[in-house]
Amino acid sequence: MEKPRAVLFDAYGTLFDVYSVGLLAQQLFPGRGEKLATVWRDKQIEYTRLVTTSDHGAHYRPFWELTQAALAYAIKLIEPAARSDWAAYEGKAAQLMNQYRHLSAFPENREVLQALKDRGIVTGILSNGEPEMLGIAVRSAGLDGLLDHVISVDGVRKFKTHPDAYAQGEKVTGLTRQQIVFVSSNAWDALGATWFGYRTLWVNRQNQPFEELGTPPTRTATSLREVLSFFA
Ligand code: LAC
Repeated sequence: MEKPRAVLFDAYGTLFDVYSVGLLAQQLFPGRGEKLATVWRDKQIEYTRLVTTSDHGAHYRPFWELTQAALAYAIKLIEPAARSDWAAYEGKAAQLMNQYRHLSAFPENREVLQALKDRGIVTGILSNGEPEMLGIAVRSAGLDGLLDHVISVDGVRKFKTHPDAYAQGEKVTGLTRQQIVFVSSNAWDALGATWFGYRTLWVNRQNQPFEELGTPPTRTATSLREVLSFFA
């Protein structure tokens, strides 16, 4: 087997901690914040699949816009009054979107990225987020300088788990899928990347079961640090 030469990370939930968004949701919608955050996240991913698989991609919209649409859906679900009076909820929606824009990094990120760089490993993000959104996230999390590539699926207008989306990682790094380790805390993303042919690390931060579809990720861990074991 070829030695891996690069590590590509998923962004949201993997490098960037979305916990603060849930916290703000609980402040803005007491007692229903947790449900809001869960519906929001699920709907966001559902919308990426909907626009990727329907009507030959004619309804593609950048991840930021889908995230905004998913939030409106989630608020209208838990707060029926918002369906007829959206204007009254726009302020809260804007606060949540602003929180999503400026996430913090998980505490182990810097050390892990630095250790990869010290070993001469190429590092990058491979995310559904569009370049502008990712750029702001990288800067506000203080990760600039530690990532060689910030790769967005926006270039192919198809979201993960479409193979064209994962293929952006090969295209931009100039490496083959066997030379790339893909890291995600989303089980579906770790599975899609494994099916694509990347070596994968699933960072199971939420203590969840893996997808029940028969293919395991290459490795499973609870921290990003485990990625270093691919280069031991
Ligand atoms: C991403 C989402 C799926 O960054 O977390 O691609």
